[in-house]
Amino acid sequence: MTSEKIRQRFLEFFRERGHTIIPSASLVPENDPTVLFNTAGMQPLVPYLMGQPHPNGDKLASVQKCLRTVDIEDIGDNTHATFFEMLGNWSLGSYFKAEAIKWSYELLTDEDKGFGLDPDRLYITVYAGDENISRDDEAVQLWQTVGIPKKRIYYLGVEANWWPNVKGEDTWTGPTGPSSEIFYDLTTDGLGDLSHDEFVRADDEQQVVEIWNDVFMAYEKRDGQIVGDLSKKNVDTGAGLERLAMVLQNKDNIFATDLFEPIITRIKEISSPKTTFGEKAARIVADHLRAAVFLMADGVTPTNTDRGYVLRRLLRRAIRYADNLALPTDALNQLVEIIIADYSPAYPTLTDNREKIKNEIGQEEKKFRQTLARGLKEFEKEITTTGIYGVNSTSTFKMVTTFGFPFELVKELAAEKGLTVDEEGFQVEMAKHQEISKAGSAKKFKGGLADTGEQSLKYHTATHLLHQALKDVLGENVEQRGSNITPERLRFDFAFERKMTPAEIAQVEEIINQKIKENLPVKSVVLPKDEAINTGAHHLFADRYGDEVSVYYVGDDLDTAYSKEFCGGPHVDNIGTLGQFKITKEEAVAAGIRRIKAVLG
Ligand code: SER
Repeated sequence: MTSEKIRQRFLEFFRERGHTIIPSASLVPENDPTVLFNTAGMQPLVPYLMGQPHPNGDKLASVQKCLRTVDIEDIGDNTHATFFEMLGNWSLGSYFKAEAIKWSYELLTDEDKGFGLDPDRLYITVYAGDENISRDDEAVQLWQTVGIPKKRIYYLGVEANWWPNVKGEDTWTGPTGPSSEIFYDLTTDGLGDLSHDEFVRADDEQQVVEIWNDVFMAYEKRDGQIVGDLSKKNVDTGAGLERLAMVLQNKDNIFATDLFEPIITRIKEISSPKTTFGEKAARIVADHLRAAVFLMADGVTPTNTDRGYVLRRLLRRAIRYADNLALPTDALNQLVEIIIADYSPAYPTLTDNREKIKNEIGQEEKKFRQTLARGLKEFEKEITTTGIYGVNSTSTFKMVTTFGFPFELVKELAAEKGLTVDEEGFQVEMAKHQEISKAGSAKKFKGGLADTGEQSLKYHTATHLLHQALKDVLGENVEQRGSNITPERLRFDFAFERKMTPAEIAQVEEIINQKIKENLPVKSVVLPKDEAINTGAHHLFADRYGDEVSVYYVGDDLDTAYSKEFCGGPHVDNIGTLGQFKITKEEAVAAGIRRIKAVLG
């Protein structure tokens, strides 16, 4: 059964049972800045599981895009993926345990309308209970009613049968409850009846695999503590498409299913015959690239923070493993085409974003390659064979910050040599660095200057002129994103969708040089913040300034000044001293962000 058929059958089955089909939400949660990505089908539904009425009713089903990076170092085994699709059906205070159990069993085993799985290969786990919530004997009873023998049902604790399943300190606030999971026997001959311990071992050894999770969400947690019952009892189901496909297509790993097989096959075809083909490397490339494509289609771009950093790590790791396989230079492009072709029937926005995705991957690859070779050489120099760690924290820090190596890459390079990395020390270094750069940007914000020498003053003033001239030529929506000044040049980043044309660049230069010829003075005035805003002076975030702000302006008086900006100075007194302004470079630094470098001659 193809994965497309699995998606359709799942949705159809629940449609026939009164569910409304809802589309997948974006991988980037819409109203929740506290989480980076949707990690489960239920995540976009949390407010509704808490009791808010859903506009589509009280029975829903979807195929939701999800991303989990906690297992990033497990990718390459048989069952883990960073990006995955989760099939889910929900009851928002409608049906509860009996129907949830009956329907999941029916869908999995029915030959005509379902997936036709062999019931003799199913095993069930249910919640074992604790001091707050009792053992789920009701679920055991219901499973027996549908035909699962008691000896194939196992009681397990919170780590296995509670959702959300929080590793480490539990701070979950939201709907929660015990779960019941369905496992499938993958072995050729079938394992038959298993004792509790035998089942746990079979799970460990991936002889059985979890394919379905029914959560009976009836409680509310605040900060990790159960505070009471939810007003309505809900059902939250999650079934990973990759794993279902693996079972239904008779494969022993998700990469052999039609969700991955065309990508892996192409990697095999194009990997150099001189290298021994590495199955794990191929799986990492396929997994990471597929995740990256979906992230980019949902608007994430590679950066050094948060979501963008996750994407950057995935891409850089994919590149590195592509190199291990000695894939040709256009390999990523070829693979992206396959991913988009395979997935666009289910996710048409991939096609709309094809060019953007390819461009961004190309740019990121270029950027990473510029430092990769140098970084690998440096790595050889940095490793040591004395002390506890082969790669100490300063070296790791250097590899990550100077050479843009994802941390896992440093760890893997070390592991290849049988060495370890000082992970904690590295984290401390990173924390220190972040403090310094925060202090640094506060300083920059005051003056925007690294060097207060005369040349830097000139570049600072030229930056203001450039900001205004860009707005003149490209439109008011040009927005400053960053600025950096040295005695040799200025660098200015701004939000703008496309490359500037040569004519636009020439026009910007001309405007600035014309102003310089006019010998306009640079003046400043301190105003109450509101008044300053009313002058129309450019500023970033008004709330980041004090009550009184200084506005620098270029021209004889504030009303008619050519450029006005919230700024702490310093600047030259008259722009006539700037000389000839010239743009030396205009390029993209991220999607939607351009960077200009300019000099004064
Ligand atoms: N929330 C549960 C899970 O992700 C069921 O959807 O497994």
